[in-house]
Formats: sequence, C-alpha cells, structure tokens
Amino acid sequence: MNYRHAFHAGNFADVLKHVVLSLCLAHLNKKPKPYRVIDTHAGIGVYDLAGNEATRSPEWKDGIARILEADRPAEVDLVLKPYLDIVRAMNDGKALTAYPGSPEIARRLTRKDDRIHLCELHEADAKTLDKRYALDSRIRVERRDGYAAMEGLVPPKEKRGLVIVDPPFEHRDEMAHMAEAIKDALPKWPTGTYIFWRPLKDLWAAERFDTGLAEWLFDEEYATPENVLRVDLWVRDLEAEGKLAGAGVVVVNPPFTLEADLVTVLPWLCDLLKQEAGAGWRVDGALAEEDFEEDGAEL
Ligand SMILES: C[S@@+](CC[C@H](N)C(=O)[O-])C[C@H]1O[C@@H](n2cnc3c(N)ncnc32)[C@H](O)[C@@H]1O
Repeated sequence: MNYRHAFHAGNFADVLKHVVLSLCLAHLNKKPKPYRVIDTHAGIGVYDLAGNEATRSPEWKDGIARILEADRPAEVDLVLKPYLDIVRAMNDGKALTAYPGSPEIARRLTRKDDRIHLCELHEADAKTLDKRYALDSRIRVERRDGYAAMEGLVPPKEKRGLVIVDPPFEHRDEMAHMAEAIKDALPKWPTGTYIFWRPLKDLWAAERFDTGLAEWLFDEEYATPENVLRVDLWVRDLEAEGKLAGAGVVVVNPPFTLEADLVTVLPWLCDLLKQEAGAGWRVDGALAEEDFEEDGAEL
C-alpha cells in the first residue's frame, strides 16, 4: 500500500469528487430522517497543504486554490457553496493550508442523528483517522478492507444514505472490485446513493466499467437511465503521456438535481482548471454517448 493521498489532495480530481459528494449530502439533508454515510476508502480526513507531501507535489494549486481565487459567477457559486463553505471554514479567513477529505466533508455536512462509517486499510492512516474522530460518537472508524466491509454494512438501518468508493487504483483489477461491490450491495440496498471514483487514464477500462455497470443496472432492472450519472473532467488531452489527465465519478441513484447542478458548474470548472489544450468535461448516463468532445462541449 504505497498510495499517499496527501500528494493529490485538493487537485482537480479531488475537487470534482468532493463537489459531487457535497451536493449529494446537501440533498440528503433536505429531509429530516437520519441517514448513513459509508466511506470505503477514507484516507486521513484532513490534509495539510503546507505539509511535506503537498509541498513536494502542490497539485492543489491547480485545483482548489484556483477556485478560491477566481471570480465565480453567482450560479456557479450557489452550486459550489456546500463544498466551498467547508474549505473556507477550515481555513478561517487565513491562507489556504487545510483541505477536507471525504470523511471531513461528511462530518461537516451530516446532522446529529446521521451516522458515518469510515474504512481505511493503511495502518497509520486508520490510526490518524480514528484519533481525529474519537470524540464524535456519530463516526465509526474501522481499519478494514472497504469492499469486504461494504458487504456487511449495507443496508444500513437508516435505509437512507450514501456509499462513496474511492480506491487508490494501485491494482489493475480495481474496477472489477468496484463492479463486484455494487452488484452485491445494490440488490440489498436499492435506494442508496453510490459514488464510484475512477481515473480516466485507461480509457478502455473506464468505458468498460461505466457501460458495463449501466447495462447491468438496466438489465437487472435496478435502475432506469435517470438513475445513473457519469461525470468526468479532464484538464489536458486524455491521450497525452504523463500525469493524470482526467477523472470522474459514476453515481448510482443520484439526487434528481445533480445533473443540472453539474451542467451549471462544469463548463466553468473546465475552463478554470484546464492545464493544456484538449481539456473537456461530460455529464451523461454512461450509455448515451461514446465519444469525448473537446473544450467543454456538452454531450
Ligand atoms: C484516494 S484515497 C481516499 C481519499 C478520500 N476518499 C478522500 O476523498 O479524501 C484511497 C485510500 O484508500 C486506502 N486503501 C487502499 N486500499 C484499501 C482497501 N482495500 N480498503 C480500504 N482502504 C484502502 C488508501 O490507504 C488511501 O488512504
């Protein structure tokens, strides 16, 4: 387990994932009934952007930093508000040094009767996480394989809620694990919202995961096309060699408002976060379109 998220915290891929997570949680908050958040690959919860890893690899400067510094149109600001409020609160008007991971976003957006279950397999990271949230009785931290844990954690007793699956993609078969996990979980908890993060590095693998998942959901009648949303952002030509060019999430059972919110912010985000020619974005149902369009065209 060599992956260290601190090198990537706050980069464009984190921004997109965390905006989606914040919007899904804000939507769950619209109803008073409690819900459960299950984070299968939690990381350490909060990242120090002035720390050793983030200083050596300051990817956040081309991600969250650009967003905070930009003039944001009102309609974009409204969609980003749940996410940016957290980042601003953590930095309290000072220079940006603290960045929230998915557990911290969940902690800050959930209410007193909601529950959060965090899994993290890395020994030191699991200890950091456990220590960080020891005083919050709503949060349970387990040092455990997130996929194995997910099998037992769904359905949660609250019946409402969300699972976020955000593995490090150190292994070639990660997408297969994700597909197996949802095939086990969805029949047991068909109404949960599931967020799967995946890189857009191996385009063929990403396409196979997205369309395979969507086809399976429709074939098994767990979902109609409206129940699957794929969101991607790429900051340079996807075929270019070198650093990660693109990433996104596949959301099963998204809030009905998510697609419109993302279509509002993604053209702006893409324009702001692009690093080289060939940047783009898409929001679709995974089966609707196969080709990528360049520079922010809506598919
Ligand atoms: C991409 S990071 C998670 C970032 C976090 N979700 C966030 O958004 O802030 C992936 C994490 O998964 C952990 N990990 C790797 N394999 C795991 C497994 N099988 N089960 C649980 N955690 C795992 C890694 O140690 C790493 O901290």
